[in-house]
Amino acid sequence: MQFHVSSGTAASLDVGALVVPVFADGTLGGATETVDRELGGAIAELLASGEITGKAGEHGLIRSTTLKTSRVLVVGLGDRARFEVASLARYAGTALRYLGKRKVTSIAFALPAEALSVARDAATMVVEGALMGSIDATTYRTEPEKPIEVATVHVLDAAGAQSFDRAALATGVERGRVIGEAVNAARIMALTPANDMTPTHMAARATELGKQFGLEVDVLDEARMLAKGMGSLLGVSRGSDEPATLSVMTYTGDPASTEKLALVGKGLTFDSGGISIKPADNMHEMKYDMSGGAAVIAAMSAIAQLKPKINVIGIVPSSENLPGPRAMKPGDVLRAMNGKTIEVINTDAEGRLILADALCYARELGATRIIDAATLTGAMVVALGHEATGTIGNDDAFAQQFIKVANESGERYWQLPLYDEYTTTVKSEIADLRNSTGRPAGGLTAAAFLKAFVADLPWIHLDVAGTAYTDRETPYLAKGPTGAPVRGFVAFAEALASSQGNRSNGNGATVAHAATAPG
Ligand code: BES
Ligand code: MN
Ligand code: ZN
Repeated sequence: MQFHVSSGTAASLDVGALVVPVFADGTLGGATETVDRELGGAIAELLASGEITGKAGEHGLIRSTTLKTSRVLVVGLGDRARFEVASLARYAGTALRYLGKRKVTSIAFALPAEALSVARDAATMVVEGALMGSIDATTYRTEPEKPIEVATVHVLDAAGAQSFDRAALATGVERGRVIGEAVNAARIMALTPANDMTPTHMAARATELGKQFGLEVDVLDEARMLAKGMGSLLGVSRGSDEPATLSVMTYTGDPASTEKLALVGKGLTFDSGGISIKPADNMHEMKYDMSGGAAVIAAMSAIAQLKPKINVIGIVPSSENLPGPRAMKPGDVLRAMNGKTIEVINTDAEGRLILADALCYARELGATRIIDAATLTGAMVVALGHEATGTIGNDDAFAQQFIKVANESGERYWQLPLYDEYTTTVKSEIADLRNSTGRPAGGLTAAAFLKAFVADLPWIHLDVAGTAYTDRETPYLAKGPTGAPVRGFVAFAEALASSQGNRSNGNGATVAHAATAPG
């Protein structure tokens, strides 16, 4: 897909379709008003007829035989007063999926005048949404679903009497392309079934993408893990013939700084539960249990291209969790890299076991703050459903800084507490820690377990069990993996760079979501 910043309206644009926004209040404005005039009032009529009301995601097609652009798709943006720039990703995705499935190959998007002050981010969102809308989850069919064949996307600078800052739009388009492609890379990794996406393949993806975008990549094999004392990660891997891998991607955007953000992602390529085996229903979805790891690999490749002035390492522990003859057993005690001993109560609580060693390793590699992402607990799906990523940490200022920035990225985050009582709950009688407790606050006791491996570093844990994939299709996104938390990761890396007083990137962009330095 090619992206351009362009000028023009329905009368002049030579594209397969022009997309214009309408709000739920029924009044037109900006570029929509201009196009409505060219169409002889057809958009106003569509609204007056009640055929569309402007609710978010609604869309109606108008055909014209007189204008150069023969199709105008009107897409609802919801309440004008509650307009958020992130809604433009859903706006673009909705239009792209609708038009793309009808053989349209070039689309121009008008932006609402409400986005004039956030031109860069508006363009980013349109491009992200178009890219995210463009892929479907049918890659393994001999006859995949009708492919979306949109080759060209224009972001228009017109806004009625005013116009958007073209340089800001161009910066936003390029940023959106980088982030949108990274999100899709994470989604495709997650979609890939476990017979193709093994821990070895995960490391290969990290290596390929790292090489493509100029990152240093180091992949630890089991012998090196053993030498490092990573008994917790190796304990999980024992039940499988596929060897575990631990991929480390290094981005040095600020060589003079000793600050280093670590992104750590659970790369469990298939979670059967192990000896504490899961029920068969929906077990196939556990191929998605590497979504956190995929997001780290993809976010690192986006960061490598956007070049924020900070240092970031991406760490992805990857393993299968199977009940093979040498599998860890309930009651076994494992020893993690930091020397802490762990009683395995439930072999299905494996995510925290592979993360334990990866968190210790982040510290050894000089991380000064850590964010981990993991499809860690069913309890988090119970708590927040599929609507937000549970966000837990040991440093409130850091968590709140992250949530503020990440919530503007098009993804949703919600903070949950990490009380001392949860830490007491994860103590074992025989060892330092136990990997499973009772049902209460399962997502939070999991976080309390992880906390023992970050020591005193500021740290945030993102439980993406409910948000990394979805089983319902929306007008703007196919069902399957969503790419979360790639957008949150990238937005935060950029904001952190700007809060440390650095320019966000080499092409003169300013960071819209500047945040204050965390405590
Ligand atoms: N990968 C699962 C968590 C999960 C469940 C992700 C549903 C997405 C959807 C994780 O490894 C797991 O099995 N967690 C257990 C922990 C329990 C044994 C303490 C769970 O949530 O049941
Ligand atoms: Mn599990
Ligand atoms: Zn798991």
